[in-house]
Amino acid sequence: MNNSQKTVLISGGLGDIGRAIAIAFGREGFRVAVGDMPEEPEAGQLLEEMRSKGCKELFYYKADVTSEQETAGWLEAVAQKWGLPQVIVPNAGIVVSGSLTDDAMTTGQARRQLEVNFWGSYNLAVQAAKKLKAHNLPGRIIFMGSWAAERPTARISSYYCISKAAVRMLCKTLALELAAHNILVNEVAPGIVAGGPVEEKSAERS
Ligand SMILES: NC(=O)c1ccc[n+]([C@@H]2O[C@H](COP(=O)([O-])OP(=O)(O)OC[C@H]3O[C@@H](n4cnc5c(N)ncnc54)[C@H](O)[C@@H]3O)[C@@H](O)[C@H]2O)c1
Repeated sequence: MNNSQKTVLISGGLGDIGRAIAIAFGREGFRVAVGDMPEEPEAGQLLEEMRSKGCKELFYYKADVTSEQETAGWLEAVAQKWGLPQVIVPNAGIVVSGSLTDDAMTTGQARRQLEVNFWGSYNLAVQAAKKLKAHNLPGRIIFMGSWAAERPTARISSYYCISKAAVRMLCKTLALELAAHNILVNEVAPGIVAGGPVEEKSAERS
């Protein structure tokens, strides 16, 4: 890939890991399209910081990835501005704490975990892949997985582990489907990173 022509699209791009990914791509000369939940004015300070650290061309769009429509709108807005993004990073994620047999856990909370981590990743990856296929373009999809996909641990959240296991199989099946179309699909699976929900939990403990 010729970096000067490339655009990366990152969901949850205002989060701790998302910002680090955005800055790393920005420093490699990519145009960076970031989506997240806050309206742009709320995101202003973080966006400024990302610009100053290497994202020379940065485009922010408020998009909830659990919404097919908002995800489609984001992809369309980026395509209009810079052309179809060819590197996609479904990174948005949450942790819904609680064990499977906890009476206090509602079905709605449990579903939300899957809505964001699995369906949010699915919406973005599948919509982007369909567009790349339709235009016969190569691409990369890099899912944000987790070590928790293989390690049941109620300490973080049983629901979280299930959601990341689902992301892993989504990655594998999509990789198989898209290989012939020159779209490479991978997952990165970090261990515990000092950021995001993990940082919040450490702060609560201290
Ligand atoms: N922090 C860790 O230790 C760790 C370890 C392994 C994997 N991960 C994964 O890395 C990813 C990023 O986590 P982080 O640690 O940066 O957390 P974070 O909370 O800092 O970032 C997550 C971002 O996702 C956004 N988001 C949440 N729901 C969304 C939605 N519906 N639509 C769009 N954006 C949404 C949030 O607003 C936030 O900016 C997650 O998928 C997480 O599961 C984190």
